[in-house]
Amino acid sequence: MENIVLVGFMGTGKSTVGRALAAKLNWTYVDLDRRIAEREGRSIPELFRTKGEAYFRDVESALLAELLGQQRQVIATGGGAVLRPANVTAMLQGGLVVALFADEAEIVRRVSSDAGRPLLAGDPAARVKALLQERAGAYDFAPLKIDTTAKQVETIVAEIAAKMVEHVPFRTD
Ligand code: S3P
Repeated sequence: MENIVLVGFMGTGKSTVGRALAAKLNWTYVDLDRRIAEREGRSIPELFRTKGEAYFRDVESALLAELLGQQRQVIATGGGAVLRPANVTAMLQGGLVVALFADEAEIVRRVSSDAGRPLLAGDPAARVKALLQERAGAYDFAPLKIDTTAKQVETIVAEIAAKMVEHVPFRTD
């Protein structure tokens, strides 16, 4: 189970941090959304539009389970991957789960320039507010929790790298 699984609400920095952390560890970086889009041959918004969210969630769960059978990956999951209890169990068994958090205002700022999130279509600020309420506590199962608000990527990566050695099976002692 030598994987790092990044979870967190949209815009908390999972992809940016994941890429930098994988580079530091010399592990493979995997963006779960990108894998879903590749496998399905269409973008995430297109997948939601044509097949619906339930279908997207099925593919997300299947790919996540597949990925967790491999080692030495930093996996950036989509913000809703934690909504299915089976995914949570698989993540906890397959790696060290690290939850990233950010203040609501910072999340809104980060997601506003990106039209690739179907669940935020319309009024992103209002959607972020509603979904944050709906998902309150959904990321708290992670043994490692990091607030990314106003932090540099390098600081966050260093924090995760320092803390991961405290967790089985990354212990070096
Ligand atoms: C979602 C988050 C997105 C993507 C999809 C659904 C969610 O990923 O998986 O649009 O339900 O929170 P990011 O968290 O990378 O934006």
